[in-house]
Amino acid sequence: MVDAMTGTLHQPLRIGSATIRNRLYRAPVLEGAGDSDAAADAYAKHLVENATHGVGLVIQGSSCIWPEGRTSPGMTCVDTREKVMRLAPMVEAVQQAGASIFLQLGHGGIYAMEAWHEPYASARRGPLLAASPLPWFLKPQFRGVPVHVMTTDEVKDMAARYGDVAAWAREAGYDGIQLGSANAKLLDQFLSPFYNRRTDEFGGSLERRASVLRLIREAVAERAGADYACTVKVPAEVAPFGPHATVDDALAMCRLVEEWGFDAVTPVEVSVFPDTTLSRGDAPDSFRTNAAMASRLEKAAPSRLRRATLTAGMRWGSRRAPFRPVWNRVLFTAAAEQVSIPVFAVGGIRTPDEVHECLAAGAAMVGIGRPFYAEPDLSARILADDPEARLCRNSNKCVPAQMLGMRGACYNPAVNKQAKQRARR
Ligand SMILES: Cc1cc2nc3c(=O)[nH]c(=O)nc-3n(C[C@H](O)[C@H](O)[C@H](O)COP(=O)(O)O)c2cc1C
Repeated sequence: MVDAMTGTLHQPLRIGSATIRNRLYRAPVLEGAGDSDAAADAYAKHLVENATHGVGLVIQGSSCIWPEGRTSPGMTCVDTREKVMRLAPMVEAVQQAGASIFLQLGHGGIYAMEAWHEPYASARRGPLLAASPLPWFLKPQFRGVPVHVMTTDEVKDMAARYGDVAAWAREAGYDGIQLGSANAKLLDQFLSPFYNRRTDEFGGSLERRASVLRLIREAVAERAGADYACTVKVPAEVAPFGPHATVDDALAMCRLVEEWGFDAVTPVEVSVFPDTTLSRGDAPDSFRTNAAMASRLEKAAPSRLRRATLTAGMRWGSRRAPFRPVWNRVLFTAAAEQVSIPVFAVGGIRTPDEVHECLAAGAAMVGIGRPFYAEPDLSARILADDPEARLCRNSNKCVPAQMLGMRGACYNPAVNKQAKQRARR
């Protein structure tokens, strides 16, 4: 089964109606491009350069399907056709440089910024959307924050909304979409038994919890076309207690999404909380050391308790799940043995050797995230098998920046210094 999808780094791959020129992709990281008319230019600045240097596929960082539900102020909303269409010139420029581009779609659910970012929390128009009532251990943090458990019909409407946005994405020229369905986002809150205690058709067994994905897949096929590349992330969860999606559950979900017609799957080990387990590495200190971040944090979370909760989450992630090269290896290798759709690898992949190893282990596409911030041209070096080490030190100083609405960039002064030195060589 794996053989059909495995390939070498320079071999093209077909995913739905998209043909991707090679097996290297830029994993979704936020650019902080926001929601204004300037968003296309902000994306183009990074993504066109990545394409020019040879990356096969760019997965644009998460964009929100509704006007409320972003997890950070710099996230783009794609809640109207007009907002999606204004990204079309950037999409075209990426493609003219030879790369394909997918749009990642998501919603923060109970972790939307309307929950924790004071100016947005006080201006919010409605309650936070949730799969189930808040678990007891989150209640102190969410005191005074209204939460609405989505009804069965509302879940169906949400699936239809994913279909509409996919249709707009296709019209704007995007080669496909990815569902942001891991990392404690709203879809993950449905998939995960840690959050989902529903008693309707979207709760109960693993298959019923995951069936929201089946509905979305159907809506995307109906509204954007059955051949439009529709891909998905699937979580294996790290949890301090309580029920959670295990590795076996993640593999079962990979088999289900194949059965439901998804064109590719990215299995990832993530926390049940929105912490740095997603990117692994150090607990970022840039909350304190970067003056712009410190002042934004103060405005976002004026109460000391809220600030302490946010920063504790960062420390928790780095302690619980430290950086390991290619940390999702076991998961994506097992997934590639069990499904015949392309499996995407991501997480701590840095060297050309590691990229080749991932491909040999069954991954169809290999993704790199954070290092692109400091090295927009890194795809050229990976594709040329240049063993020079990546500059990224996994300090995660970029994480608070994107949480607080700053531009996606490397915020590690030592790394930026090295990048400048190299540019002068
Ligand atoms: C600042 C930042 C923003 C991210 N944004 C997203 C996102 O929007 N959607 C997503 O699925 N993953 C997101 N990720 C996770 C990355 O796609 C990637 O899985 C993770 O950073 C591990 O890969 P790396 O070690 O190559 O960076 C983000 C990570 C970082 C550090």
